Amino acid sequence: MKILVVGATGTIGSAIYNSFKGAGYEVFGAHRHSDSHPIDITNKESIANIFKTLPKLDAVINAAGTASWKPLAELTEEDYYVGIQSKLMGQVNLVHVAKDYLADKGSITLTTGILAEHYEPNAVALSLVNGALHSFVNAASNELERGIRLNVVAPGAILGDFPADQKFAGHFPISIEKAIKLYQQALTENITGQILKKY
Ligand SMILES: NC(=O)c1ccc[n+]([C@@H]2O[C@H](COP(=O)([O-])OP(=O)(O)OC[C@H]3O[C@@H](n4cnc5c(N)ncnc54)[C@H](OP(=O)(O)O)[C@@H]3O)[C@@H](O)[C@H]2O)c1
Repeated sequence: MKILVVGATGTIGSAIYNSFKGAGYEVFGAHRHSDSHPIDITNKESIANIFKTLPKLDAVINAAGTASWKPLAELTEEDYYVGIQSKLMGQVNLVHVAKDYLADKGSITLTTGILAEHYEPNAVALSLVNGALHSFVNAASNELERGIRLNVVAPGAILGDFPADQKFAGHFPISIEKAIKLYQQALTENITGQILKKY
């Protein structure tokens, strides 16, 4: 099975990359500053280029995308567009491109997070895009053809990035291993339209 991991040098993406490579899959790691597989999910042409240059893929997993961290009172319209362009439309565009290039019965997995349904100060703009992505996956998964599946992983704060004894959005951080199990589930189980949460 050939898998593309986007955001492959990040906290979550590097763990996904290493875990699936270790399990014997053929894994390609992509991110903006990659020498071999550069991709910018804010640019649809850049997404398409990756799919054109790589062999036919069975799965794509995205662990890239950002948004503005600010209190509500300081958030400008432009601040919201950062997350809308990056984490939201970056992943939506990835779905639009991947659905045309993936092998039959291929798997697409996106990443959101706990902020879709739990409050954390300064994270309103992230909550907005995470919630939108959950609704998108819920609906868009019904219209994918050729058996292509679409799921989203929503992890809590990852231990290491966040200290073990401090709550984030009302919950203690989770180990990266617990998050990786959700990506494995999305890849290997015959599920679609699911929001796989761990927090
Ligand atoms: N870490 C956590 O605790 C946590 C918890 C829940 C959810 N999340 C979510 O999970 C996602 C990944 O988080 P992370 O902490 O693993 O991120 P990270 O450590 O900051 O890594 C981000 C990765 O994505 C790449 N990247 C950034 N912007 C990109 C773009 N526009 N196009 C393509 N690649 C891009 C980066 O490499 P380049 O800079 O080379 O592009 C890097 O490989 C984020 O959406 C985050 O909100 C994170």
